[in-house]
Parts: sequence; structure tokens; C-alpha cells
Amino acid sequence: MSDSPKKPLRSRQWFGAGGKQGFYYRSWLKGLGAPNDMFDGRPVIGICNTWSELTPCNSSFRDLAEHVKRGVYEAGGFPLECPVMSLGETQMRPTAMLFRNLASMDVEESIRANPVDGVVLLMGCDKTTPSLLMGAASVDLPTIGVSGGPALSGNWRGKPLGSGTGVIEMSEMVRAGTLTQAEFTEAEACMQRSRGTCMTMGTASTMASLVEALGMALPENAAIPAVDSRRMRLAHLSGRRIVEMVREDLSMSKILTREAFENAIRANAAIGGSTNAVIHLLALAGRLGVPLTLDDWDRIGSNLPCLVNLKPSGQYLMEDFYYAGGLPAVLREIATHLHLGAMTVNGRTLGENIAEAPCWNRDVIRPLAEPLMASAGIAVLRGNLAPDGAVIKPSAASPHLLKHRGRAVVFEDIEDFKARIDDETLDIDDTSVMVLKNCGPRGYPGMPEVGNMPLPPKLLRRGITDVVRISDGRMSGTAYGTVVLHVSPEAAAGGPLALVREGDFIELDVAGRRLHLDVSQEELTRRRASWKAPAAPSRGYARQYVEHVQQAHQGADMDFLVGGSGDQVDRDSH
Ligand code: FES
Repeated sequence: MSDSPKKPLRSRQWFGAGGKQGFYYRSWLKGLGAPNDMFDGRPVIGICNTWSELTPCNSSFRDLAEHVKRGVYEAGGFPLECPVMSLGETQMRPTAMLFRNLASMDVEESIRANPVDGVVLLMGCDKTTPSLLMGAASVDLPTIGVSGGPALSGNWRGKPLGSGTGVIEMSEMVRAGTLTQAEFTEAEACMQRSRGTCMTMGTASTMASLVEALGMALPENAAIPAVDSRRMRLAHLSGRRIVEMVREDLSMSKILTREAFENAIRANAAIGGSTNAVIHLLALAGRLGVPLTLDDWDRIGSNLPCLVNLKPSGQYLMEDFYYAGGLPAVLREIATHLHLGAMTVNGRTLGENIAEAPCWNRDVIRPLAEPLMASAGIAVLRGNLAPDGAVIKPSAASPHLLKHRGRAVVFEDIEDFKARIDDETLDIDDTSVMVLKNCGPRGYPGMPEVGNMPLPPKLLRRGITDVVRISDGRMSGTAYGTVVLHVSPEAAAGGPLALVREGDFIELDVAGRRLHLDVSQEELTRRRASWKAPAAPSRGYARQYVEHVQQAHQGADMDFLVGGSGDQVDRDSH
């Protein structure tokens, strides 16, 4: 490691300045107790912290930041921590996803406007990972990710209870009359037993895994439990490493190449990852100018097997995954499918990082030759119902429904769904296809996780646990079922989904990648003539979002945020 940076430090534009301006830049920071030598030309490291008690999954991040700082100081850097918008998946209404792009703007401008040379991103709960990556990518400084880690395994009456997945299962049992409300309430405290993110392979664990697969975090980032001392060690080492990355000028765009994204898509298949990763990676690639399309997900990842036996696709939880070897063991198993020369934040290639990765439990991480499921990656469907595409996660679906033709039971929006789903007179059976409209990026601003519609009690009581469901919304990574999501264009943008009526027949053929509405073009044209776009928000961020958000197949980023503005700011503040 050389002590002199390859590229002049941008922080010198602040701290190396003379006169009144330099005084401003240094004096107020000296008020924190920073000695003179913190301004002597050492790398300044910004730590973007999403700590918040309203994001309980990230509530360990004050401690984590302190461990990062230790590493930064040790390596000769000057750490400065700053809060950035935190998105709590479980608390925010109407959905945390509405604010992903807003948080990314906060992160981008917080980095660019300040005297930092390198960045550490502390991220955990679902949307905190893509928002921080997207914002940082649009600045493109040397950047390292540190995920907060999953919570300890949930346990209810001696049985594993997985975040999200357990809630969905138990709530269906309550609705079917096989679990009491008191038992359901008791389970609340048994699921999230410690700080940390959802401990199923939901969106948070998926994104933490993909951060590692992309090369944006040190090995083992994905799975070390939040409260395990090794998570603090990882933070400490990440603090040391970011200082070196600044000296090496190892910026984000040197790591997030097309090859890195292809590695992440393949990793997502192998872990049985969340469909939300599709939207987040498309948006992230857009920030970097890396060409990536929805069809790449199918072409690159759909024929890979799922090796990780974790809920919701399998039976174990993230703690088990870590003890079994975590993501490095999975990547080693699929090494022949990866770009092993892809650079990672530790200055080594992905291939070097995983070459010796051990696996300690072959039931949790299956060998490539004996997968949990064959061909488990995201499948992209097209047809007259989804001209720009829709996605399904076959590993979470019922095999007997992957090819299906059924009569549509249509809900015009989420209010219509909630008003009628428990109605015993609802005309629905196990061959029906449930259709939910107006839950896309514009229709239910933010595109909430409502696509895995709960089934009606009358079917649950008959022991039916899955029917085909189609919507323009998203689904929690902890959810499961034969659920077609992200239908694009969405209903609120005038997509064909808006034209589906009760009793229409719909054909789903996952192997054939087909989603077809069995209604003539003439009839659809007639229906379109009477279609009206739903009302849009009248002010504020929600209005800006609806006016500028792109469709799901493009990553649902705002059109004016695609790309980056770099790290240069020409004007002084006073
Ligand atoms: Fe925060 Fe799942 S709700 S990680």
C-alpha cells in the first residue's frame, strides 16, 4: 500500500484552501475536537449511516459506525459520519419504495457536497441498500458497502420462525381458522429476536448478498448476524480498506461493471433471491451507464439452480446460512458460471476471494449437482398482457400452476381487493387467476409489496394455499406463491392490465415465457376507449415521483436521476 494517493484528493479543495474559505472549512470541524493533522492531506471518509429507530432493522448502526471509524483511523484516514434518509420497510406508508429514489438523492448530494474522498455505506433494511448504492454510484467515489446483517433466527414454541414468511403463513392460518389470534400475537415477539434485518432470504438478505456478489463489500458481508462480533470486525476491516481504496482510486464504476451485474444476477438465482432485486439492479446499472435490461435477468440467470435452502424457497434461516459458509460458499459452487476476474473492493478478484471458500453444511448450501431446485432464476414473461415484461420467481411458485389457464377474478385497486377478498360470495375457485390493478409505480405510488394477495378464506379452509396471481405491484422477498409481478406497462399508465375484466381467460406459461389475455384486439380497443387514468397526487414529492418515475422494467428510477453527475463541485460555499 502506497501512502500517496494515485489521484489528488478532492478533500484538498476544502481543507487545503487558504484564506477565509479554508478557515470556514476547517474551523467548524475542529469544533468537534479534530486535531490539526486531520486536515494534513489524509483521505477523508464519509460514513453514510441509515441508523433510525423507525428502521428497527438498522438500529445497530451507531455501534457499527464506531467500528468503521476505528478502521479508518488505523489506516490513516479521517472518518466523518453523516445521517442519510433511512427507509424502514415495516413502518413507512404507503411503501418504503416510494422513497428509494428520494433517499438516493439525499445520499448523492450529501456525498458530492461534502469534503469526502471515499464513502462507507451502512445499509440493511430492504430499500436502504439500493438507495445508498444508487446515490453513491451517481457520484462515483471509492465506496465500500457494509450491511447490517440479519437478525438471529426467529423461534416460536421450539420451531424456526422466519421474518415475513412466518407472518404470511401464520396470518393465513388465522384466516383459515387453524391458529388463534392470541397465538398469532404471541409470535410477534418470537420472530424478531434481535437487532438486524429479516433473517429469511427476503429482499434485505438478497440485497446484502448481491452487494457481496457485485464486489462492493468484503467477503462474508451477506450473512454474518447483526449481533455477531464478526459483523463488527467486518465493519472495522471495511474502515481500514476504504482508506486504501481512496489511495488506489478504486472507484465504484471500476467494480460495478457489466460482468459484476451478471455475477449478481447469477448469484440471485443460486440464493433464491427476491424479485425486488430485479428493479434495484436495473436502477443501479442505469446510474452507472451499464447496459442492463429486464431480459438479461432471464437470459443470464433463469437456467441456474437454487442452491440455498432458505425460507421462503427452502427451510433454513440466515444464521444457518452463515454457519454453513455464507455467500462465498455459494459463489464457489457456481464459479464456472461467474466472471471470476471481476474486481472487488478488497483489491482482489471475485475468483481469488472465493477460491478456498469452505462449505460446512451441505443441506443448507446444496452442491451444484444436487440443487434445491433446478432452473430457479427470475423468469421474464411477455405477451399481450405485459408487452414490456413481467416477472415470476419459479422457485417460490407451485409447480402445478406454472402452466395454467384460468378465469380472471379482478380487483380494480387495493381498496377493492380489501373490501371483497373475505366475502364468502366471491366467485373464485382454485382454477381462478387473481388480478390486481393499479399497484404499479404510478398507480399506488412506490409500487408496494401487495402482489402476493392473500387468498380468500373459503379457499384456505379447503386447504388451497396457492392460485395464480397477477399484478403490476411488487412482492416481499419473504413471500411465495405463483405470483406474476411488475406487469409493465402498469395499469395506471394505460397498460393492458387496466383492460382486464372479470371472467376473461388468462394463460400463464412460464416455460414458454408467455402471459396472454384471451380477449380479441377489437374488444381491447373498445375497452380502452372508456379507460381513464387514476388521479395523481397533487403536490410534493409524491407528485414529482409520479410525474417522473419510470416503469418497472426500467428499474422505477426517476428519469432525471438516470446517470451520474460525478464528484466535482466548482463553487465555494461563501
Ligand atoms: Fe427491514 Fe425486512 S423489514 S429487513
